[in-house]
Amino acid sequence: MGAFERTVLVTGGSGFIGSHLVCSLVCGHPDWRIINLDSLDYCCSPRSLRSVEDRSNYTFFQGDVCDSSTLDHIFSTHNIDVVFHLAARTHVESSFQNPSSFQWVNVEGTRTLLRAAQRARHRPQRFLYISTDEVYGASTNWVFDECSEAQERLQTSATNAGERRFQACSRGSGLKAGSDGLCLCFQLPVIITRSNNVYGPRQHTEKVIPRFLRLLQQNNKCTIQGTVPKSRHFLFVSDAIDAFLLLLEKGDVGEVYNVGSGCEVPILQLAQELVKMVKNVPDSEVDEWLQFVPDRPQVELRYPITSEKLQRLGWGAQVSWAEGIRQTVRWYQDNPDFWTEEPTNAPPPDSGGRPAD
Ligand SMILES: NC(=O)c1ccc[n+]([C@@H]2O[C@H](COP(=O)([O-])OP(=O)(O)OC[C@H]3O[C@@H](n4cnc5c(N)ncnc54)[C@H](O)[C@@H]3O)[C@@H](O)[C@H]2O)c1
Repeated sequence: MGAFERTVLVTGGSGFIGSHLVCSLVCGHPDWRIINLDSLDYCCSPRSLRSVEDRSNYTFFQGDVCDSSTLDHIFSTHNIDVVFHLAARTHVESSFQNPSSFQWVNVEGTRTLLRAAQRARHRPQRFLYISTDEVYGASTNWVFDECSEAQERLQTSATNAGERRFQACSRGSGLKAGSDGLCLCFQLPVIITRSNNVYGPRQHTEKVIPRFLRLLQQNNKCTIQGTVPKSRHFLFVSDAIDAFLLLLEKGDVGEVYNVGSGCEVPILQLAQELVKMVKNVPDSEVDEWLQFVPDRPQVELRYPITSEKLQRLGWGAQVSWAEGIRQTVRWYQDNPDFWTEEPTNAPPPDSGGRPAD
């Protein structure tokens, strides 16, 4: 243990973003010990970490972030210097169907982890909480910076305040907003990131880009929820990881940092682009691969954020949308069975063919 310069605990390290973060840390810092705590929920595949699982600086614990005895064991047997907290329930559709499990993992799990870190004999020097731009709520034309209030406190429509409009979002994002506040209440060196929709290889097929790709690969149409024109800002996963690692070294404790690419893509356009890339059809036939389905209970049109605070530290998105989506499509074409060959725990009930964020 003493041979390592730093010991880093990543919760949710087997998930989409977590596995990219773990791989980057394990390979980029052979002198750091990287510990991954993950319950191995249905949304992760053991194959995501196959490239690092035999490395001497990587350790995996299968366990629940809500279980204080597991956390106490990790903190008492390893001198954890840094925590990246990513473990969460993340599927928007499921947050409508099963809100209590979201509350349990996303809020109680965060609280349990914070408590364990606070009572550790060797307290972490940094605790990075990976949150989301959805905590601001949706806005049609107001751009959120880190001083904008998270949606839990502003669920009103302030029509007199110019065009500013806040809306309640999914229960999942409301709970993330609550957890952001929780983190800042503890006597720990916390830094919070709020990022756009992250995309790239190995993301579970319940999320919008891989879901569209899977449908098309199976010769099905892309199902688009509702007819209201929604858009999302997309951030390639390596740019998200770069931001987290920069903030570990240069971020100020107690601060929130938005991580946004500035790349906004309407969902309809996304589907059309993917149809062209996967099906290779002429423009005149693209719409034949689209199907409109009923919308979900709450509709969030867009989540615009500014990331100037992070950019002042030297971060900028390096991967263009054209390049990121090309790499992503190619990965799903090269790995069509990644999510079907080795199913982990049972997935939640089918959401009726709807795409999700
Ligand atoms: N994907 C995005 O677009 C995005 C954007 C902004 C923020 N985030 C945040 O980043 C984090 C990771 O997101 P992701 O997309 O990689 O999600 P993911 O669903 O792919 O991964 C979540 C991971 O958490 C693990 N997990 C769930 N419950 C757990 C528990 N009780 N104990 C231990 N592990 C548990 C799962 O097994 C999984 O490996 C989440 O906190 C999410 O809110 C994601």
